This record gives sequence, structure tokens and C-alpha cells, in this order.
Amino acid sequence: MPPVLEFEDISKEYNRFMGSRRVVALEHFSLEVQAGEIFGFLGPNGAGKTTAIHLAMGFMRSTRGRGRMLGKTFGDARARSRVGFLAENVALYHRPAEQLVRFYGALNNLKGKLLKSRAREVLEAVGLDQEARRNVAKFSRGMQQRVGLAQALVNDPELLILDEPTSALDPVARVKIRSLLLSVRDAGKTVFLSSHLLSEVELVCDRVAMLNKGRLVKLGKTSELLQSGQEMEIVARGIRAASFPGASAADGAVRFAVPVSQQKSALERVWDLGGEVVSVNPVRHSLEQIFLQVTGQQPEQSALGDGG
Ligand SMILES: Nc1ncnc2c1ncn2[C@@H]1O[C@H](COP(=O)(O)OP(=O)(O)OP(=O)(O)O)[C@@H](O)[C@H]1O
Ligand SMILES: [Mg+2]
Repeated sequence: MPPVLEFEDISKEYNRFMGSRRVVALEHFSLEVQAGEIFGFLGPNGAGKTTAIHLAMGFMRSTRGRGRMLGKTFGDARARSRVGFLAENVALYHRPAEQLVRFYGALNNLKGKLLKSRAREVLEAVGLDQEARRNVAKFSRGMQQRVGLAQALVNDPELLILDEPTSALDPVARVKIRSLLLSVRDAGKTVFLSSHLLSEVELVCDRVAMLNKGRLVKLGKTSELLQSGQEMEIVARGIRAASFPGASAADGAVRFAVPVSQQKSALERVWDLGGEVVSVNPVRHSLEQIFLQVTGQQPEQSALGDGG
């Protein structure tokens, strides 16, 4: 199957005001998002995430390179009508929530009963069915973000592009939106989302890409990124923590990490000291550790934990 979203060696430079230095927001950026995945797009402030999303939506043109969305060149109106989009800063017309969602549905050629039922359905999906008749001008930021999500979903899009969809949401709403995204994926649709909420991304995304200063610095399956493959955590009883550098002790168990190459000798040492091995597992990293490492804010060593 062809990718749903494809960036091909894209660079984007912004012209600065009064001819001062140009800003390079994306540099030789390539990425393919496949049908049926929830894809997390991560990167520090100013990394170029929103720029990439705006290029895909056809709001502006790239300086170099090209891309395709749902098989069509970026900016194609027919492809865009099959996409649901939530902008980073939701700006909504001051109308009752349901009326507003219907307005967006009508823009996508939904009519009559279908439009009405679809608007109700998506408002319920984001937990706003009780507030449907209230004017969004009086909504809190999190409620406005949910209306934004409802409008992105109203045309039952094949591809959902969400620029920080849950930044303003409370924990209950986040859980709701997480299961909503999973159900969208289970229906065979694709979700591309940018986020700074790395623990959320860890829970919901099948794959992630990390962007730093306009360049792709990490790409992979979430499960594989989290598993370091380089270090093992050993838990043992009957030994002193002081016997292993960086080991910690709790509830009579001593816990420490070693590089895979030293696993065998570490286990033998536990037995030689008269100890008992409780478990040996690959060390898991959090996305946050990987993020800090690839964006150059934490040296590689300390991202691997303090053992070993
Ligand atoms: N319209 C613009 N004109 C000039 N520079 C811009 C414009 N939009 C973005 N930039 C610059 O491009 C770079 C990337 O910005 P972008 O908004 O894509 O980052 P981002 O990854 O979405 O960041 P954030 O996490 O803060 O949303 C930044 O240096 C930003 O200042
Ligand atoms: Mg942004």
C-alpha cells in the first residue's frame, strides 16, 4: 500500500521581515506514514512540526522537495476533503458548539439527517453532548480543543492530522480521546499527531518520529524505541547493593543494570556471592529519555540509566 502521508526531501525556509536572516524550519526532511497507524510527531519547540503539517495541508509551499497526502500532491483539494485537521491554536467562530460542528460538516458536503446525526455523534465522542447548545465563546480552553477535535472528525476522515490535540485536556478527557484515537485506527483510518505529552504518545502511538532543528533525528516503532536492547536490568536477593556499582536496594531486593555484554559475568557474580537471581529484563527507556538524548539535552550515557 502506498503511504498515506509522504514527505520527500523537503526543506522549508521562511523569509524574515526586512530581509534579515532566513529561518530554516525544515531541512532535507523525509518521512512516510502508513495507512492504519497512529503516528507520533515529536520535537522541541520550534523544531518544525507545525511547519511540516502546514505544508502537508497545503497552507504553504515547500522551498525544496515535495510530498503527497492520500496519494495526491500537497494542497490537492480533493485529498484535503478526506482529511480531518485540528490546528495547534484552535480558533473557533463564536457559535453554539453543535451549530459550529454542523457548519464544518456542511463544508464537507454532509447534508440533512446524516449531518445532524454525525454532529451529535462526534460531540458525544469528545464528551460535549451536554454542552452542544452552548456558545463556544464561553468554553474553557480544553472544551474548545474538544470542539476542534469534533470538527476534525465530522467528515469521517481517512486521515486525521492533529497538531497537539490534547495539550489543554484534563486527565479524564485525555483517556477519552486516547480511546477515540484507537477506535479511529481500528476502523482502518490513520492518525498523525504532534505532541509534547510523551507519556501519552508512548501509550497510543504505533510509531514515532523525532524532529530537531528541522531534521529527522529518530524514527521507529514505539515498542522498539522503548526497549534499549543494550542493557539488562538484574534483580537479585541475598547480596549487598554495594557489590554492584549503581545498584539500589528495596524490600530486600537489589536492582542494577549492566550492558548486555556483561550480563553473564554479572549473574555469575551474584551466584558467587551466594545470592539468588529474581529476574533479568531488558532495560526500558521512556520516550522522554530518548527525546532528551536525541535533542542533545542529555548525554547518551545518562540516558541509559545509572547502572552498568
Ligand atoms: N510564519 C513564519 N515566519 C517565520 N518563521 C516561522 C514562521 N512559522 C514558523 N517559523 C519558524 O520556523 C521554525 C519552526 O517552527 P514550527 O512552528 O514549525 O515549530 P514546532 O515544532 O511546531 O514548535 P512548537 O512545538 O513550539 O509548536 C521556528 O524557528 C519558527 O520560529
Ligand atoms: Mg507547533
